[in-house]
Amino acid sequence: MPGHIIAVVGGKGGIGKSVFSANLALAYLMELRQRPLLIDLDMASLGDQNLILGMRPPKSVVDISRHNASALDLKVLTPFMATTAQGLSFISAPTEPTIAKDLDMDGLGKLLKSVVNIFPFIVVDCGSIVDSTTVKVFEAATMIMVVTSQDVIVLNQTKRVLNKIQEHLFPPDMVQLVLNRFTQASVVQAAMVQKNMGKNIFAAIPEEAETCTGSLARSQPFVASSPQAPITRAYHDIIRKMQQTNILAQLSQLKKPTGASAKAAAEAPAAAGEASKGTSPMASGAKPVDPWTSMKLRIHKALVETMDLKKSNIDTSDPKQRELLREKTKKAILDILTREDATGILSSREKSAQMVKEVLDEALGLGPLEDLLADDAVTEIMVNARDQIYIERPRRSPIFCACASRRA
Ligand SMILES: Nc1ncnc2c1ncn2[C@@H]1O[C@H](COP(=O)(O)OP(=O)(O)O)[C@@H](O)[C@H]1O
Ligand SMILES: [Mg+2]
Repeated sequence: MPGHIIAVVGGKGGIGKSVFSANLALAYLMELRQRPLLIDLDMASLGDQNLILGMRPPKSVVDISRHNASALDLKVLTPFMATTAQGLSFISAPTEPTIAKDLDMDGLGKLLKSVVNIFPFIVVDCGSIVDSTTVKVFEAATMIMVVTSQDVIVLNQTKRVLNKIQEHLFPPDMVQLVLNRFTQASVVQAAMVQKNMGKNIFAAIPEEAETCTGSLARSQPFVASSPQAPITRAYHDIIRKMQQTNILAQLSQLKKPTGASAKAAAEAPAAAGEASKGTSPMASGAKPVDPWTSMKLRIHKALVETMDLKKSNIDTSDPKQRELLREKTKKAILDILTREDATGILSSREKSAQMVKEVLDEALGLGPLEDLLADDAVTEIMVNARDQIYIERPRRSPIFCACASRRA
């Protein structure tokens, strides 16, 4: 059975993601006596795990990503890794920003595919930025753990991260909330955090500044060096909860859209264009609808049921209010999409993004004409019929394009 990748992310620096990642991996090792792997992929902090673990491997994740071995097995990986006294394997981030930008994305993908065949539990410290690197880890991950705290600013940033993850259409259940530095004394109660984030808290880790500071000063993660501390118990509880609920095995069954291959990405707009040709996607015409259009109709119907777009008290002449409405509608579409079967027609994130854009444009604007209107090179648009549009670009002869053919 392949191992599980746990991606750790958070909305802000300093909330304890790196401390959490290292101690979670160690708690797994101590609970289950199986060797986990920790990968430091926080390319902004550049080497915090070296300080937490007190190790400085000679090579980093960037070197591995650029290694040209045909297969990355344990023998190939060993010279790139360090192992802590407890037996935790560790791949470090580079310590120089100039090296960090050399991370090879295909190589990272290959590494993530390989490590699940070697280790049962892999924790990746992803830092605070959701970018293409992080998304690549999410694609390979079984669970995304979002670390947050009872701080209003942190919560605001956590929401931003949760929205970003949702925009990439990862299944909501894959995302678990960890409340770090938890204290009963805070005015922001755990229940308020759950309500605001729209998510249950998977685990709460107590505020324990002294243990944390001491463990950092000694470069000894507290799960190993302070076995009796309440904070250490909280980490063991997380691993036990994962085991008892069998959550990782369950989450690994989730169907999630992957990054599209070049072929799939190219197919998405084509499929959309074909779908719209000759029939307004929102019209209930007699022509049979293809799966793409039929899904779009379904989403649009659900959207209308959720939001009464016409009745919303929005002044559409105000750009700010228009933007707000667009954001609100996009969120509603994403919520609907997470309930749709993401396999098949929405098998790639590019296709899903295309679907969101089309429904959004058609619900709020002029549908396929939106892209033409936004294109500065297009100086003239003439609509003859719903499936006959002429556009003009300077120094080019008029081009005929079928309705919704965005690539005319
Ligand atoms: N539960 C906790 N209680 C008290 N201090 C904590 C806790 N978790 C983390 N810290 C402290 O927070 C600081 C930032 O931790 P770090 O893991 O580097 O954050 P991030 O990776 O999110 O930037 C460290 O000084 C760490 O000791
Ligand atoms: Mg960090």
